[in-house]
Amino acid sequence: MKYGYFDDINREYVITNPRTPWPWINYLGTNDFFSLISNTAGGYAFYRDAKFRRIMRYRYNGVPMDAGGRYFYIKDGDTIWNPGWKPCKTELDAYECRHGMNYTQIKGDKNGISATTLFFVPLGINAEVTKLTLTNNGNQPKSIKLFSFIEWCLWNASTDMENFQRNFSTGEVEIHGSTLYHKTEYRERRDHYAFYHVNAPIQGFDTDREAFLGIYNGFDTPQVVEAGKPSNSVAHGWSPIASHYLEITLQPGETRHLVFVMGYVENAQEEKWESKGVVNKTKALEIINALDTTEKVDEKFAELKRYWDNLLNKFTLSGTDERLARMANIWNQYQCMVTFCFSRSASFFESGIGRGMGFRDSNQDLVGFVHQIPERARARIIDIASTQFPDGGCYHQYQPLTKRGNNDIGGGFNDDPLWLIFGTVAYIKETGDTSILSEQVPFDNQPGSEVSLMEHLKVSFDHVIYNLGPHGLPLIGRADWNDCLNLNCFSNDPNESFQTTENKTEGSKAESLMIAGQFVVCGTQYAELCDYLGDHDEADRARSCVKEMEEAIKKYGWDGDWYLRAYDYYGRPVGSHTNEESKIFIESQGWCTMAGVGKDEGMVQKSLESVKKYLDTPNGIVLNYPAYSKYIIDYGEISSYPEGYKENGGIFAHNNPWVIIGETVAGNGDRAWEYFSKICPAYTEEHSELHKVEPYVYCQMIAGKESAKPGEAKNSWLTGTAAWNWYAITQFILGIKPGYTGLEISPCIPKEWPGFTVNRHFRGADFEIKVENPHHVSTGVKSITLNGEKLTGNVIPTQPAGSKSTVIVEME
Ligand code: GLC
Ligand code: GLC
Repeated sequence: MKYGYFDDINREYVITNPRTPWPWINYLGTNDFFSLISNTAGGYAFYRDAKFRRIMRYRYNGVPMDAGGRYFYIKDGDTIWNPGWKPCKTELDAYECRHGMNYTQIKGDKNGISATTLFFVPLGINAEVTKLTLTNNGNQPKSIKLFSFIEWCLWNASTDMENFQRNFSTGEVEIHGSTLYHKTEYRERRDHYAFYHVNAPIQGFDTDREAFLGIYNGFDTPQVVEAGKPSNSVAHGWSPIASHYLEITLQPGETRHLVFVMGYVENAQEEKWESKGVVNKTKALEIINALDTTEKVDEKFAELKRYWDNLLNKFTLSGTDERLARMANIWNQYQCMVTFCFSRSASFFESGIGRGMGFRDSNQDLVGFVHQIPERARARIIDIASTQFPDGGCYHQYQPLTKRGNNDIGGGFNDDPLWLIFGTVAYIKETGDTSILSEQVPFDNQPGSEVSLMEHLKVSFDHVIYNLGPHGLPLIGRADWNDCLNLNCFSNDPNESFQTTENKTEGSKAESLMIAGQFVVCGTQYAELCDYLGDHDEADRARSCVKEMEEAIKKYGWDGDWYLRAYDYYGRPVGSHTNEESKIFIESQGWCTMAGVGKDEGMVQKSLESVKKYLDTPNGIVLNYPAYSKYIIDYGEISSYPEGYKENGGIFAHNNPWVIIGETVAGNGDRAWEYFSKICPAYTEEHSELHKVEPYVYCQMIAGKESAKPGEAKNSWLTGTAAWNWYAITQFILGIKPGYTGLEISPCIPKEWPGFTVNRHFRGADFEIKVENPHHVSTGVKSITLNGEKLTGNVIPTQPAGSKSTVIVEME
């Protein structure tokens, strides 16, 4: 069953039934001011940091769920309704939600009135705008009463929902004409406030939640709306809100536009006040003036559209199935932008208060984003590298507001350092900008500790080789990519987090085959980079370390039919046929096949066959099999999940592309495609009622074959799945790989494809790349012509900026 459809021309997903199986959300904002918005206008806004600068209050895990948002109540006679259906849930005559590129438009019709709400964050402005369009479609004049509504968060989203003994006394507002100011805590250390404005005179307002709703009412029955009369309440403490009241009469056929602006302002300490106790509103007025007419708002909206046209024109695919094209050209790239902005901090599965930016997560996100805005990727790499320690270890997370490493979680995840190589190499290959390597970057943000970024890459590489275990394989530390395989925790206290509990690495023999495979991939990348820079000695050193790692994997990491997953604290194998449960894991199969370890000995092919046999399902590839059926203290959190969920036998969509890429290394284009299409959201749209989450973005996890509900998905949006699938489809299936000197072409496609065309913007030049597959093969390039000239080899050399080239690729 479907709840809507893709509108590819407008780059929108159109939801036609508000009762989606879960709120289907979208993200507004590209730089500093961000919002999450559901298909019924639920969600919240924040400035930069979802924990420390939360603007709208949101209740997680509420009943009913997704309560709170930017609501408009229309009182038309005795009928009260919302254009987004919720919170009143009055049956609408028509409903439609269009989630587009950083905007959402929700339209509701009721009793002859149609109300369209267009939400977006204009470029360069710290505000969320709503353009509300009201039309009277009937043949009688209509007089309606309109109430806007948002609830303020008292800035720190965490203490906002905990520290009531204080919070209930701090709320402060100011009311000036049609602008309602939220200046809670501005009197003391805060240098920022928020406001909610409408570009028309109002006939009343409310700023106190209890006055607006009534103490026993929910958002669906606000007492002032029911009474049809605002109470002009002024909040002192408790829960400040902002609600405008407008009386509107529409003649038959008349349309009226209103612009609502929810803005955020920071003032320097010495400029905080206009007069004693009165907020300096200069900057708020600037925002308001920039958006005070429908024309100005329309122009800002057109600008946002142009911004996305420009971003998405850098890579377009045609000539394949339309579902693939819509993912590659629109939604996958869009999701990569969102994960780049948010890492794993704020979604409807991540509360925005738990996690900052992940070290490994953000490096992976870069790979899906770097072609869009390379300058932002560059700045991000420097921020990430600045949280590294001198020995190459890293803070696992950092806070976006302060850019400081997060002490609560600390470090010790031994895969982390390698991701810095992975992210940086992707940046340089896309841009050719090796100057980033000479940037002086501190360790742990300590001034005076700066070394070049290249040195950071070196300590990243060395961190692995200085931390090898008894088999010459990398020690796992607190965990590797799989945060839940905790081989050094031994936790038996339900009150402690596996992520932060004491990590008993002293004397541990726990080694990771995932890091081993990753080291072969990223270590080789490091060696190639050194060669490219002319440092052949360092390249040779790196290559010999990689060679030794490959030998160690082949000798101690092979279980007979697949790669082992790890050795535990005591040196016993994990992910082996000798184990009672979880005999095989995906991560080491993915990384070691990607790295091609033991390819000549048949290991790659055998490992991939074992994945097919034991891990593949109709909904994707599960992480491990059989799932753990009981808690095992030696393995930690992985065995805490019921079978088939999350890291215990779930389809962790993030690592499916590792196998997909592994299949391309083995030349199996059909298999790679089969796996790709199983988890690609546009291909699961038809069973949205089972899948549950948005059909336009990847999710982190789909319940596995041993779960109660195989195929049911969770944790949509913020997942490395977006970047990894982008990487897999563009660079390994379509096979267009940015390299140091040009674009390497090596497709690995399903045999039935007759070919495809990609328009690729690369280092300032445009390429139209037509791949023809007349003999229906998966791999093998017979010839490439660049502007009619035959090339030797399969690398299209970099072309002058501004040039346009046509490339014809003929497969064998
Ligand atoms: C989550 C984390 C990621 C981790 C993965 C597997 O997605 O964000 O860092 O690698 O889970 O545990
Ligand atoms: C839990 C999740 C995992 C996540 C980790 C860190 O263990 O299962 O996916 O990476 O928490 O937040």
